[in-house]
Amino acid sequence: MNTNFLDALKQRRTIYNLGKNVTLPETDINHLIKSAIRESPTAFNNQTLRAVILYGKKHDQLWDIVANRLKSEVPTEEIYAGTKQKVDSFKAGFGTILYFTDQSVVADYEKQVPLYATNFEAWAEQGLGGAQQNVWTALSENKIGASLQHYNPLIDGEVRIAFDIPTNWVLRAQMPFGSIEAPAVAKTYLEDDKRFRVLNKLYLSILNFLMGMFFYKFKFIVKSQ
Ligand SMILES: Cc1cc2nc3c(=O)[nH]c(=O)nc-3n(C[C@H](O)[C@H](O)[C@H](O)COP(=O)(O)O)c2cc1C
Repeated sequence: MNTNFLDALKQRRTIYNLGKNVTLPETDINHLIKSAIRESPTAFNNQTLRAVILYGKKHDQLWDIVANRLKSEVPTEEIYAGTKQKVDSFKAGFGTILYFTDQSVVADYEKQVPLYATNFEAWAEQGLGGAQQNVWTALSENKIGASLQHYNPLIDGEVRIAFDIPTNWVLRAQMPFGSIEAPAVAKTYLEDDKRFRVLNKLYLSILNFLMGMFFYKFKFIVKSQ
């Protein structure tokens, strides 16, 4: 059994201690990010995800926006000190990916495919989740750590102005990335028997087959009446 992909999944973790000691050139990082997003599936291949990659002063600007915005939300100076420390740990990274959903595409598909209209919003989120995790894993494969943050919608207005974001792009997540300055904390897992069911007993297969036959016949009888 080939477990290369599983090994890569296992290696990807949430890394909070980020630094700027990244040796991979920006062009290669951009290639990884764009390719991972491009190859990630979306419902009807509608490609609702948009991404903006920030480096240097633009990356700093984002985390300054977050820090300033949170200042007016956090009740005390004491709590803010902790918040600021957290935000600074993201700023200490090498870059940030902003993830957006193009709502005009979602709305188009809701109109074009009315049968599934109520699904396109959720499907855009599912596509986004898959793509984010592919990017995260692709970065991790190249020894670049990352985490996933959600300061939207608090920062939406300022981000739109600062980075000239089209009005139909809705901010969904921020992924700061950089060199891995400290490993992730140990991860716990729910017991498999609470999480998975594998149905492979012969009698269950026979039962499934008989039920299938019954419903097929029933459908046929109803149709022919
Ligand atoms: C949909 C989603 C939303 C998340 N939101 C946040 C977040 O806002 N802030 C954060 O620090 N981590 C966030 N995380 C990271 C999770 O806390 C983390 O993935 C989880 O604890 C498992 O740890 P691991 O990434 O090291 O495997 C999010 C992860 C997912 C998949």
